[in-house]
Amino acid sequence: MIMSNTSIKTAPEVWDSDLIRASFPALSRVIKGKKLVYLDCAATSLRPNPVIDAGCDFCRMHDGNPHRGMHALSYEATEVYESSRDDVSRWLDAPSIKSVVITRNATSAINLVAGGLRNKVKKGDNIVVTMMEHHANLIPWQQLCKLTGAELRHIPLTKTGELDISDLSRYIDKNTKVVAVAHVSNVLGTINPIKKISDAAYDAGAYMLVDSAQAVGHMPVSFKKLGVDFLVFSAHKCYGPSGLGFLIAKEEALYALDPTEYGGDMIEYVSFEDSTWADIPHRFEAGTANAQAVASFPETIRFIENIGTDKIRAHEKMIVTYALEKLGVIDGIKILGPLDPAVRGGLVAFTDSLVPPHDMSTVLDMEGVAVRAGHHCAQPLHRLLGIPSSTRASFGVYSTKNDVDELVKAIEIARGFFGRRSQYGT
Ligand code: ALA
Repeated sequence: MIMSNTSIKTAPEVWDSDLIRASFPALSRVIKGKKLVYLDCAATSLRPNPVIDAGCDFCRMHDGNPHRGMHALSYEATEVYESSRDDVSRWLDAPSIKSVVITRNATSAINLVAGGLRNKVKKGDNIVVTMMEHHANLIPWQQLCKLTGAELRHIPLTKTGELDISDLSRYIDKNTKVVAVAHVSNVLGTINPIKKISDAAYDAGAYMLVDSAQAVGHMPVSFKKLGVDFLVFSAHKCYGPSGLGFLIAKEEALYALDPTEYGGDMIEYVSFEDSTWADIPHRFEAGTANAQAVASFPETIRFIENIGTDKIRAHEKMIVTYALEKLGVIDGIKILGPLDPAVRGGLVAFTDSLVPPHDMSTVLDMEGVAVRAGHHCAQPLHRLLGIPSSTRASFGVYSTKNDVDELVKAIEIARGFFGRRSQYGT
């Protein structure tokens, strides 16, 4: 049905930055008199026109509730909702359409898995995460361990900010029930060797979950090639709408989960006393979904596929290489994570001996440069690094070398300002 409207219809033969950037209306913003330089893609990416238009079209003409009515609008909403699921399944190489659960975001998808395993994990078991996890892939497992008495283990880091997987048997053993690892660290940028870890999890008979929030849409991702049981991601970090995420899982792994949310649409039969559940994936989708967001996701996929994930990865790698070079030569700036772009996604977090992160971010904003400052939802990692917070620039398809030059110029302005201030001890 509906939803045409793509501004990039065919893949550019070469990287056509102007064509790509023209799809993002927010890039026309002028912030405090300066042209916006958007370097906060890891927090949320900007949306291209086709995605915005598809969401609006849905609201304007097809605004029914999926799975809940016998009228045309509800049928259309159901069709859009289920075909979006089908597109995700095909795009990320899921085992089947039943393997794709529609969630609010990556966080709710991880909570769904951790909470769903509450009757499968017991005292004496262990759950393995890493020392670079976002809170979303740490706290649900902490809570599951508290509830069940299981032990929580953390794979440590090397000096360069990669996972120390030299002896995984120290962490993953026959009592391991789940191994949950970030695909790409949202602070260090590290691209983790998921297949190697999932092989170890498989040998131990454990479930393997990968948090691909910073990977999907930024590099080629295949559920089957990663060899995991569960993969989660958020739409808004890959040019899609907010309030939408996905859990992709092996069917047998989904059947092992108990639902954590109950209500409309997830049931098979309800009496006053008890209920039975619908089949997967609907048993995990209680309540009315964000149908507008779901309806715009096929355009998100089309947008990414028209450019190509190989080319997007190559582009982000080129930009990150340039950023590492430019930031690396500034005396007093310390880059977090690996310096080898081959194992780094499209982001660079750093500290500056002259300018604290929140001040840096505020001055950068005055120059029209949007970055994130803080602990980036990774407090334990920052504590491990001996810092309270950092400044992070993160890139996407619209990023250019010129954006990095503007970032560096704005950093110099902040350093000039704070460097002078600190001379006077203020
Ligand atoms: N997880 C997002 C980030 O890293 C919000 O900024």
